[in-house]
Amino acid sequence: MPKDTLTIVDNRTGKQYEVPIELGTINAMDLRQIKTAADDFGLMTYDPAFTNTASCKSRITYIDGDQGVLRYRGYPIEELAEKSTYLETAYLIVKGELPNRAHMEMWTHNTKIHTMVHENIKKFIDGFRYDAHPMGMLVGTVGALSTFYPDAKNIFDLESRRVQTRRLIGKVPTIAAFAYRHSRGLPYVYPDNELSYTGNFLAMLFKMTELVYKPNPVLERALDVLFILHADHEQNCSTNAVRSVGSSQVDPYSAVAAASAALYGPLHGGANEAVIRMLLEIGSVANVPAAIQKFKAGEGRLMGFGHRVYKNYDPRAKIIKRIADEVFVVTGKNPLIDIAVELERIALQDDYFVKRKLYPNVDFYSGIIYQAMGFPMTMFPVLFAIPRTAGWIAQWAEMVRDPEQKIARPRQIYIGEGVRRWVPIEQRPEPSSREDAVTQQI
Ligand code: CMC
Repeated sequence: MPKDTLTIVDNRTGKQYEVPIELGTINAMDLRQIKTAADDFGLMTYDPAFTNTASCKSRITYIDGDQGVLRYRGYPIEELAEKSTYLETAYLIVKGELPNRAHMEMWTHNTKIHTMVHENIKKFIDGFRYDAHPMGMLVGTVGALSTFYPDAKNIFDLESRRVQTRRLIGKVPTIAAFAYRHSRGLPYVYPDNELSYTGNFLAMLFKMTELVYKPNPVLERALDVLFILHADHEQNCSTNAVRSVGSSQVDPYSAVAAASAALYGPLHGGANEAVIRMLLEIGSVANVPAAIQKFKAGEGRLMGFGHRVYKNYDPRAKIIKRIADEVFVVTGKNPLIDIAVELERIALQDDYFVKRKLYPNVDFYSGIIYQAMGFPMTMFPVLFAIPRTAGWIAQWAEMVRDPEQKIARPRQIYIGEGVRRWVPIEQRPEPSSREDAVTQQI
C-alpha cells in the first residue's frame, strides 16, 4: 500500500527517517530532526532564490508553467481578458468570487470614492525633482500613504483591511498619474468618477484643456485588458516582498511600497522598459541575427524572454501580441514591433533558447503597446504596478489571515571567519596584502 511519506536515510549516521508528504511537499522543519549528534543544529535546505521552496499556501493564482496556464481563482486568464473588466477582476482576486450585479455596483462605488488623494500628496509629489523617475515617486508616495491613514495599522481588523484595499486600488492610479504629470511639468488632473477605472486613469494622464476627456474606447479597453493580465502572478519577486515585509505586521501601505520597489527592478517590472531600450539599440530587423548571437554569447540578455515559472509561451504574451494589432489601428504601427517579431521568430528556432525553454514573457510586447499609446518608457513599470496592487493586497490579506504564517525569517549558512580577536589599528596588516579581500566586499 503506497504511503504519502518520504523515507530518508542519513548516510552519515545510517539512521532512517520518515517524513510526511502533504500537497506534494515536505515540511522543511521535518528535516531538523536529522542530526549527526545531539548538539547538531539539524539539517536545513539551501534554496537562495526559492527556486524549489513553497513559502505559503494560496488560493489566489494558479500557474502551470510547463503548459503555459494562468488562472485567477480558477478562471482562465484568456476568458477574463476577453469577458471581464479590470475592476471586476480585482474584485475576483481580492474577494475570491466574481461579483453579482449588486456587489459589482457596490465595489465600483467603494473604490471610486477613494480615487481622490489628500491635497498634501500633491505637495509631496511636488517635492520630487523634475526628472524623478515616476516609479520612484510611486514607491515613495504609496509608502507615504501610511502616514495619512494610521488606522491601517489595525491589520487584524477586517473592516480596516477592506478600507485600505479600496483606498489602495482607488488611489494608486491617481498617484501614478500625478507622478507622470509632475515629470511633464503639467498641472495635476483630478479623478473623473464618471469614467471607467481605466478611462479615468487615461484622463488623469492626458487631459489638457478640454472640459471633459473622452478616452478612445479601443485604447481604454486595451489598457484594461493589460491591467487584467498584470493583476496577479502568484509568488513573484514583488509578491514575495509584500508578504515578507507584511509578515512583520507593518501596515499595508508600507508593504505595498516594498512590493513596488521590488517591481522597479529590470529583472521584474522594469523589464518592459528594458525591452524597448534593447529594441532601440538593435535598431532594425537586419541587425536581429547579430543581436541574438550576442545574447547567446552572454553579452546581455534577450529582455522580455525567459521566466522562472513558464517553460512555455507565457499565456499573457499571446494575448498582448493580439492586442497590439488592435491598438496599432488607432495609433499607427510602432515600428519596433517588426524587430520584436523577428527576434521572437529567430529565438524560437534557435537551439540556445529552445534548450533552455526561453519564450516571450508578459513584458516582451507590452512596452511596444505602451509606447504606441504615448506612454514614456519610465511609465512602463508604473503601468505594471497599478493593476498588480489588487494582487499584492489580496496576497497580503491572505498572509495576514493565515495561522501558519509567521514573520519571514530565512536561515543562512554561515561561511565567514571563525572567532577572531580585535587588533589595534597600528598592528593591522599593510593595505597591499589585504586590498583584494577588502575591496571585493562591496
Ligand atoms: N536571454 C538569454 N539567456 C537567458 C535569458 C534571456 N532573457 N533568460 C535566461 N537565460 C539563460 C541563462 O543565461 C541561463 O543559461 P545557463 O543555464 O547557460 O546559465 C538559463 O537561461 C536559465 O536562466 P536563469 O537566469 O537561471 O533563469 P531564472 O529563472 O533565474 O531567471 C528571468 C528568470 C526572468 C530573471 C530571466 O529569464 C531573465 O533575466 N529574463 C530577462 C528579463 C525579463 O524579461 N524579465 C521579466 C520576467 S517576467 C515578468 C516579471 O516577473 O516581472
